[in-house]
Amino acid sequence: MYDFRPDETLAPAELHWQLCEAADALTEGEPDGIANMANVAALLWEFLPDLNWAGFYRVAPAKSGGHELVLGPFVGRPACIRIPFGTGVCGAAAGSGETQLVEDVHAFPGHIACDAASRSELVVPVKREGRVVAVIDLDSPSPARFSREDARGIEALAALLADRI
Ligand code: SME
Repeated sequence: MYDFRPDETLAPAELHWQLCEAADALTEGEPDGIANMANVAALLWEFLPDLNWAGFYRVAPAKSGGHELVLGPFVGRPACIRIPFGTGVCGAAAGSGETQLVEDVHAFPGHIACDAASRSELVVPVKREGRVVAVIDLDSPSPARFSREDARGIEALAALLADRI
């Protein structure tokens, strides 16, 4: 049994460090990227309070050629399956290669509402050899739930996962 229980009294930086430690322990030596994304989605859900969606979109072939984001392992309500680069918060992160920290999703042009409860969002690209291979997407029902510190913590997680998903 894996029992990675976060201490909810921890400061965010320490919580992020423990999240990365748990993700490292769970994914080290496991070559199956889907299994690793599934376990990390579960860890994100357990470690980070006040979320309504946590998971991955992967860069994958589009039906009409080229590439787009395709839904990966997650925790939360069923979500839209395919997102073109440049569309929505996830597509903006994948298209630019930059973290998207959105305090108010209603003010983000083109935001894709998979769950009407979402009010703020953090999307961090996962890059391998400089290319975006996936994004980590976190949604919260609270406005401005995510800080720059959260972004840095999830960026560290993305770096850890780069060659494990
Ligand atoms: N809100 C995202 C879509 C994915 S769901 O939040 C799970 C977006 O605008 O890209």
